[in-house]
Amino acid sequence: MTEPFPVGIDGLAFAGPAAYVDLADLAQARGVDPAKFTRGLGQHRMAIASPCEDTVTMAVEAGAQVLQAFDIDPAEIGTLIVGTETGVDHSKPVAVYVHDLLGLNERCRTFETKHACYGAMAGLTSSMDWIASGRARGRKALVIASDIANYGLGTPGEPTQGAGAVAMLVDRQPRLLEIQPASIGDYTRQVMDFWRPLYSKYALADGQYSIQCYLDALAAAREDAVGSRQDLLGELQACLYHVPFVRMAFKAHQRELEMEMGQAISKDEPEQWHQLQDSYAKRCAPWLTLNAEIGNIYTGSLFLSLIDLLRKAGSKLAGQQVSLFSYGSGCGATYCLGKITECAGEWEARLDPSAQLAARRRLSIDEYEYMVRAGEHADRLESLNPDDYGLSGGLYYTGTRDDRRHYESV
Ligand code: CAA
Repeated sequence: MTEPFPVGIDGLAFAGPAAYVDLADLAQARGVDPAKFTRGLGQHRMAIASPCEDTVTMAVEAGAQVLQAFDIDPAEIGTLIVGTETGVDHSKPVAVYVHDLLGLNERCRTFETKHACYGAMAGLTSSMDWIASGRARGRKALVIASDIANYGLGTPGEPTQGAGAVAMLVDRQPRLLEIQPASIGDYTRQVMDFWRPLYSKYALADGQYSIQCYLDALAAAREDAVGSRQDLLGELQACLYHVPFVRMAFKAHQRELEMEMGQAISKDEPEQWHQLQDSYAKRCAPWLTLNAEIGNIYTGSLFLSLIDLLRKAGSKLAGQQVSLFSYGSGCGATYCLGKITECAGEWEARLDPSAQLAARRRLSIDEYEYMVRAGEHADRLESLNPDDYGLSGGLYYTGTRDDRRHYESV
């Protein structure tokens, strides 16, 4: 059945913290061969949020940017969803702070979604349903993924940290990516691969098991989306995945190719191995630069890869088909197909966060560790000064007074 009108992603923007850690510095401090982080995990830097930068401030920054870059009046937004697993309150949604700070219309449906790294995909597909049902009445949805990945000092997960927000406009006749609803496949299974108990600031992970859970979820969600097709990759110009660390995308692509070939691919079989490397080099690697520079931003990481693709190849890949895979530990997953619009190339420059990344400050490992320890108590401090963390010119969390969080533009 043909859809009455295409629905999908109409605008995208990224915003992240002002500082980062270089993984070569971290490797040296932890006594690890830097190649483990750069080649083994595929990561080069990780964005580090100071105690004054939280899920709210990053979401507001990304939201304001997407509205401005894609010329949208805030009054046009009829749904606001913030996907996050690192919210700032057990009850009050991040989305309500964001709604206020972006000056959105009161006639707006606003909520937060949590399912580990899957929250933003849940927001995207639910916004698409909202539009397709007719309930949107011409209004647009704003979906924002915002997270701080924090595993703790000296843990195996430490080099796979990061922080940032991706804001997406969702609309009919989208300007960037059409998503085919009939191609959406889903998967859910109760597993303990990664979680964060209520008492902990830090995520817990059964690392190697989480990789297996991710790959099993990919296989199952893809099968739900497109059945046992063995000729899909040939039609795709890009395969985008949830990226907890860049090398995970290689493992995911290997699993997809193995499904199509009906057999395991091994380094000992040079022909198959080259086929995998060629396919990965064409369909995945070019769109993982931002992920390697920023790290895991949990629910936004798939969409960070989409920004990378559209800023580099929006025009070149106009009209071409791509796949998207979102994985949330615990676990839930969605696999779907999308088509890059004919006009996507017009937005390449506006999508590019290079200037923002170039302005970031490189932290020494001492500064990074100080920041992490300070973050443990930030929710309870009455007053925080952004100056202490070298911050200016933005919206910041400035402390909790009378049990209420305060945000101020500095
Ligand atoms: N030079 C080059 N490569 C090296 C190396 C060296 N000197 N030393 C090790 N490597 C390679 C290893 O061979 C390995 O590669 P392969 O997996 O391809 O074999 C890679 O570097 C990592 O090494 P280890 O597996 O030994 O690393 P580890 O066990 O210390 O930690 C990790 C890896 C499990 C991913 C850990 O960082 C972690 O727990 N991360 C958090 C959990 C996570 O990201 N899970 C991903 C799936 S779940 C998900 O996607 C949701 C989410 O966002 C969290």
